[in-house]
Parts: sequence; C-alpha cells; structure tokens
Amino acid sequence: MSATSLDQIISLAKRRGFIFQSSEIYGGAAAAYDYGPLGVALKNNIKAHWWKTMTQGFDNIVGIDAAIMMHPKVWEASGHVSNFTDPLVECQQCHKRFRVDHLLGDDKYLPIKDDADAVLTAVNTKGCSGCGMKNKFTTPRQFNLMFTTNLGAVENEGSTVYLRPETAQGIYVNAQLVANAMRLKVPFGIAQIGKAFRNEVTPGNFTFRTVEFEQMEMQYFVKPGEADKTFEFWKTERSKWYASLGFDEKLLRFHEHGKGELAHYAKAAFDIEYKMPFGWKEIEGIHNRGDWDLKRHSEFSGKDLSFFDEESKEKYLPWIIETSVGADRVTLAVLSNALCEENKDGEQRLVLRLPKVLAPVQVAIFPLLSNNDDLVNKAREIATTLRGSFRVQFDESGSIGRRYRRQDEIGTPFCITVDHDSLNDQSVTVRERDSMEQKRVSIAELNSFFTDQFSETL
Ligand code: GAP
Repeated sequence: MSATSLDQIISLAKRRGFIFQSSEIYGGAAAAYDYGPLGVALKNNIKAHWWKTMTQGFDNIVGIDAAIMMHPKVWEASGHVSNFTDPLVECQQCHKRFRVDHLLGDDKYLPIKDDADAVLTAVNTKGCSGCGMKNKFTTPRQFNLMFTTNLGAVENEGSTVYLRPETAQGIYVNAQLVANAMRLKVPFGIAQIGKAFRNEVTPGNFTFRTVEFEQMEMQYFVKPGEADKTFEFWKTERSKWYASLGFDEKLLRFHEHGKGELAHYAKAAFDIEYKMPFGWKEIEGIHNRGDWDLKRHSEFSGKDLSFFDEESKEKYLPWIIETSVGADRVTLAVLSNALCEENKDGEQRLVLRLPKVLAPVQVAIFPLLSNNDDLVNKAREIATTLRGSFRVQFDESGSIGRRYRRQDEIGTPFCITVDHDSLNDQSVTVRERDSMEQKRVSIAELNSFFTDQFSETL
C-alpha cells in the first residue's frame, strides 16, 4: 500500500466528482473550488460529525448560525481592522508578491517576526521562489486580509462592510443572548459552522488555502482561573476527534506558537498539524483568547458583557478557549489519509479507505448483467429498500470488475451483486472494500447486516 501525491488527489477529485476548480469553463477562478456531488456529501458528513461531537457530545455546548456580514464596528473591536495583516514582500526582478512566512517555510518559527531587517535578510537569502533571484525583495509591508464590500445603493465610507474572516466574532457578540436564552452558566460553549473569507496573497495547494472556506469553530467560556486547564482539556478532546476520523497519530502533531507567531487576540496557541502530501500543515488552531474579545466588544458597543459569579458575587469577563478547524482542510486531510494505491493478489487498485460513516456512498448495488430484466429489477428493488436507511448507488454499466474499481475509488465500503442465483436463493454477494472479501447474505437480512456495519459511532 502506498501513500498518494497531491496530483493523484486532485485528479481523483475531478474525475470522480469530489472537487472541481471553480468557474473552470472560464479558465478557473483563483483560489476557489466547487464541491461536486461526492465532495459535498463527504464534507457534509465531516461537518455533521463535528457538530454531533460538539453539540450532542457535551450538555453545555450549543450551536448557532450567525450572519456573515456583521456591523463593521465588530471588526474594529476584534482588532482585525488594524491587526489582521500578513507581511508581504515583492521581488523587484519578477514583481511577484509573497507572504513572508510562506517564503520562510519552517524558518517562520524563528523569533524574527517583529524584526523587519532580520526578516528581509532571511527571505533575501532564501531567494525568490518565482524567478530564483536572491537579494531582490522589498522591505516587508503589512497587507490586510479582510475583503470589504458595500451595503446599500450608495458607495461611501459609511456603507463599507467586511466579509467575516473568522466565524468566531458571531459567537462573541451573541454570547450573552445565547447564555440567557439557554440558561447556560459558565463554563459553556457555543459552536458554529460557516463560511469565512480571506484575501490570501499566496493561496495554493488545492483546497488547503483558499479565499473562501468553511470554519467549524467552538468557543468555550470559562472562569479566568480555569483557562489553562480547559486549554489542555480541548487539546486532548480534539486529538481524540482526529483519531475518530481514522487518522494515523504519526500523521498528526501539535505545534505551539512562539511569541512572535501569536495572533493579536491570543495568549497561547497550538496548531494541530497534519502531514499532507506537501508537508506538515495546520488544519486546526486551539487558542486561549483570554478576555480580549469580550473586553473589546464591551468597550466598543458600550454593553456590559460580563457574567455574574454566584460564588464570589462579583461580575467578571469569562476567558475563551477556542477550537477552530477548517472544514475544507480537514476534508483534504481525510482524502489524503484515505487514498492509497495498492497491489492485492496481483491486482493494482486505487482505493479510498474512508471511515464507513463518512463515505458519500455506503452501499453500491449491481445487477450482474445490465441486459437481464430480472436481475436489473431485483437489484433496483433492493436499492429502493435500502435507500431509506443508507446512501445507496445503483450501477449497471461496465464489467463487475470495473464497477468495483469505481466504487473503490470513491470509498464505498460495500458492493452488492445480484446474480442468477439470487433469483432462486434470495441472497446476494456482498463485497467489502478493504479486504475485498465476498460473502453471501440473504436479501431479507441486508438491512440489519448494514445497520450493524454502520453502527460504529465515529
Ligand atoms: N478564529 C480563529 C481563527 O480563525 P485561524 O488559525 O486563522 O484561527 C483557523 O484559522 C482554521 O481555519 C485553520 O486552522 C484552517 O483550518 C482554516 N483556515 C484558515 N485560513 C484558511 C484558508 N485561507 N483556506 C482554508 N482554510 C483556512
């Protein structure tokens, strides 16, 4: 069994309807992708699993769905207007622009972020990844990543709004309303899944870094003295979640942010990194945001966002521990983790070993011959029965071998073949994706057979 390259993932994603370049007929839109039928099913299954883990798995975590375009003051208060910037350099030879941390690669972890001269020396020594020239970069300049647009008919400064660069702020501004409505006491959490937008200067690596993406964020509100312990708790919980997705623990690691790397709101931060085909990359951030957000929103809105502590009879601002994962990055990691090329019994195949519950198609049903009405009708009848409980695909085209290959490539855990014997003995052949083992199962028992197979909770 061998791991696969990013090119193999991209090619499979297009060929089998997982992910397409956005606006492909126009030459493609930069850093934007569209999810096809199987891609949206896979991403929805991942999001549903995250949502269930958070909102069903804990009795003090609830969900919301806030607006994308918020009051512009939100982003002044959050610090994004003045701080959500990336340092950029331009090559004076080829005039390409780059994010400094991308040029530095692993050296970005060196504590040089706040020293412009040291950064310039470091990137000049590395040279331009566009034209290869050394010592041609301009001094780093800060570039804000937020997209703006205008609300209303007249374009003026007062009408400028931002496309949210993180979903978190929608949670902070609603925290008191949610806590009151749901009678929540600290500690409690609020979860949200939604689109976020960033004007990334150097997007790339397929869906890894795009200008429009989905975040799955959970903000956990605690008493200040509980923050460190809670931070450790969520590091462990989030590691368990990745194990539940079938990720090999050797492919995951934590990276602690050094002082120079911390976002403007963070007191402490850990990235969860996954070993993508293009190197170790962040898929999730776990942040101790202290009382930064609630304090700033209290100041900027004039509303007291503090909570009352029954024990000390004092008001205080809770601290926030945030877990923030990109749904697109984790989908890419799931594809990368699952796709392998293997040679089994002399047969070469590409197989997507997805966890069963994430598979876009759970059961594929084939009549052995497409020109035999009895077999086709029987297979359709079984498909109709199973469709109520499972994600089913009926496929009658090509040889059985080709149909198996197609289903292997999209990660379908089970294939059913209806053959001539089925019409007499009322049983079918069920073939399992990973072992490729086949066994006869009676048609009457198929529903309970698959219920058992898919009962594993992720
Ligand atoms: N609220 C905190 C926050 O937004 P972040 O580390 O900037 O923190 C969290 O982003 C996660 O969002 C990242 O770990 C990544 O999975 C995802 N993400 C961020 N920028 C992205 C982009 N341009 N394309 C795809 N996913 C992105």
